[in-house]
Amino acid sequence: MKRKLLSLPVLIGAILGYLGIPRLRGARQTSREAIKGQDLAQAYDQVSRLPQFQAIHRMIVRELDQYSPEGTLVDVGSGPGHLLTEIAQVHPFLKLVGVDVSAEMVEAATANARQAGLRQVRFRQGQAQSLPFPDSSVDFVVSSLSLHHWSEPDKALLEIHRILKPGGQMLIFDARRDTRRAFYWATVFARQFLVPGAIKEINEPAGSILASYTPQEVSDMLEASPFHLRSIRSGPAWLFIWARKAW
Ligand SMILES: C[S@@+](CC[C@H](N)C(=O)[O-])C[C@H]1O[C@@H](n2cnc3c(N)ncnc32)[C@H](O)[C@@H]1O
Repeated sequence: MKRKLLSLPVLIGAILGYLGIPRLRGARQTSREAIKGQDLAQAYDQVSRLPQFQAIHRMIVRELDQYSPEGTLVDVGSGPGHLLTEIAQVHPFLKLVGVDVSAEMVEAATANARQAGLRQVRFRQGQAQSLPFPDSSVDFVVSSLSLHHWSEPDKALLEIHRILKPGGQMLIFDARRDTRRAFYWATVFARQFLVPGAIKEINEPAGSILASYTPQEVSDMLEASPFHLRSIRSGPAWLFIWARKAW
């Protein structure tokens, strides 16, 4: 009996230790580029209203506040638009534009913004690797949980650089593939038991972790980009990637 009691804390300790270790870096598995289709857009809209997503979006807004955004802010891969809704509440004087490759997401985001009575927010269809804005016309670019979907991330960084004004800034939030195992297994559990069928079919949210980048890979990507000032802040399961275009 005493031996059994002794082995229980050891077992719990071993499990917690395992969950706390970062995942070994397996090769990146690409995910589908756009979250297209009415069912998928609706399911994602539903899921991204959950408190976990709201907490992520609030964390991004807190990070954004440190960079004092002004003027026009573009969200690349804006999905149903909930990040821009959060930003609009804290920064009512920003002009906000969401861009998404999926027509259904743009439709959902436009309806959500209208319902929330947001006048300073617009959504349009477009791709990260070919953004629908003139050169040097945007003050700030944000993006959340979209980078790992982009088929040509290097080209997307060039595009973001192109549309930013001199001194303009970029803040990208995404998962990291070498996340703590606890986070990875939580997404596997969510995929299996919590998310709607349409999302489960595309292996989300676990697929997002497998498709995301490590801090080193992001660092290499930024190194090859024209951004001269840049930083990567790593959380246990996510990355904040910031860069500024030269004046
Ligand atoms: C996981 S959702 C994230 C949505 C939103 N940013 C959020 O935080 O809830 C990823 C979004 O990126 C969009 N996307 C994927 N590839 C894209 C690309 N190359 N250009 C623009 N949007 C893209 C998808 O259609 C989808 O709406």
